[in-house]
Amino acid sequence: ALIVKHRMKKSGRWARAEAIVNDFEEKCATPIGKLRQVADAMMVEMHAGLASEGGSKLKMLISYVDSLPKGDEKGLFYALDLGGTNFRVIRVQLGGKEEGVINQEAEEVSIPPHLMVGSSYELFDFIASEVARFVTSESEEYQLPAGRQRELGFTFSFPVRQTSLASGTLIKWTKGFSIEETVGEDVVSELTKAIERQGLDLHVAALVNDTVGTLAGGRYYDNDVVAAVILGTGTNAAYVERAHAIPKWHGLLPKSGEMVINMEWGNFRSSHLPLTEYDLLLDTESLNPGEQIFEKLISGMYLGEILRKVLLSLAEEASFFGDIVPPKLMVPFILRTPHMSSMHLDTSSDLRVVGSKLKDILGISNTSFKTRKMVVKLCDIIAKRGARLSAAGIFGILKKQGRDVATEKQRTVVALDGGLFEHYTTFRNCLESTLAEMLGKEVASSVIIKHANDGSGIGAALIAAAHSQYLELDSS
Ligand code: GLC
Repeated sequence: ALIVKHRMKKSGRWARAEAIVNDFEEKCATPIGKLRQVADAMMVEMHAGLASEGGSKLKMLISYVDSLPKGDEKGLFYALDLGGTNFRVIRVQLGGKEEGVINQEAEEVSIPPHLMVGSSYELFDFIASEVARFVTSESEEYQLPAGRQRELGFTFSFPVRQTSLASGTLIKWTKGFSIEETVGEDVVSELTKAIERQGLDLHVAALVNDTVGTLAGGRYYDNDVVAAVILGTGTNAAYVERAHAIPKWHGLLPKSGEMVINMEWGNFRSSHLPLTEYDLLLDTESLNPGEQIFEKLISGMYLGEILRKVLLSLAEEASFFGDIVPPKLMVPFILRTPHMSSMHLDTSSDLRVVGSKLKDILGISNTSFKTRKMVVKLCDIIAKRGARLSAAGIFGILKKQGRDVATEKQRTVVALDGGLFEHYTTFRNCLESTLAEMLGKEVASSVIIKHANDGSGIGAALIAAAHSQYLELDSS
């Protein structure tokens, strides 16, 4: 009798777990109709953000990039890419139309977590010291002509209100960064001061968001690139807008008639977004409550954490992992998106990767097959929601650009980059198929999603090259 009672209790637990998961699945649902509403809401916000400063949650930031690389850029340039958990320093030698990128070297350094929430001075000092190390390792063959300064394009992947191509103030931090005193400061002058403290002679020639860098890097290789999307630690998009369609732009009309807009779509928010109680909790507990809601549904910094939260509630409310709640499951951000992705992609017949991740990361051993299958299902729900919402965002941009309809022989390329897109295959496949579904067969055949590998760094170098202080000297 005792055994029966125990069994019944167990099946009760399972039924409870299933109910929780089903409820979650329902709340995360993104049928095409809903995605169309999200895309339309995105378009409405794009218009509002372009109309006036502060007109929308979508900042639609003016990048001051009004011409994209043409392929004739020449010379030795540096780029610095800061925005995620790592930063990169890049050296690139550009050979003009004939030779293209002659040489490219990069070094990646991870940012000590305490610097992400410490002081401005320390963060920029650390970065500048790494830059100095990299620059002084430059080989002899690169010697610049006498009297010339080295130039750098600074990819700074946070919302910045630009005042020119090479200056701009930080609006707020996003992702895991939070250093109050930097907000409102000109990040180029912060970097320049730190570079000077290193005794390094290096001129910051351009300040760009990673989306803008990726757009530039993408355009260098493919003339039909009209938008760029980052799916990494955070998420965001930039695209080419007609200057006439930017009422808040009071500057001169650019020769090209165009301006690259950094949307900061991570901060998009709409009643059409499928938010669950886990998302609301994640938001409340985050470094930036109420902000970056779209980003919190989509990007790499958060997907694993959403999964952890659902698993925790399963453990608490349905004894999903046995009688006690596994202590590690209570640690915020312990389950990272790469862990989630490898569980999701587990193709072994006994889901042994899921088993070993649960054990190694969360200290939960001896999980049953049924339990593991449920974990995979949760990964699927969370990743697909994010991927489908990203597709809706891209569709919104294409619609704004009038590229959601079939026209003769018009090719449209969207450059994508970021670890989430690059490594999380299920996410990427789902994004691509959803976008195709939204576009319809005919249009989808002319819209191409292209992985722009590390385009943001080289893009910044290209923009720096196109605006080099020596340009006139060289062309005369
Ligand atoms: C965050 C930043 C944004 C950046 C994106 C991707 O959303 O606010 O500027 O482009 O992450 O790195």
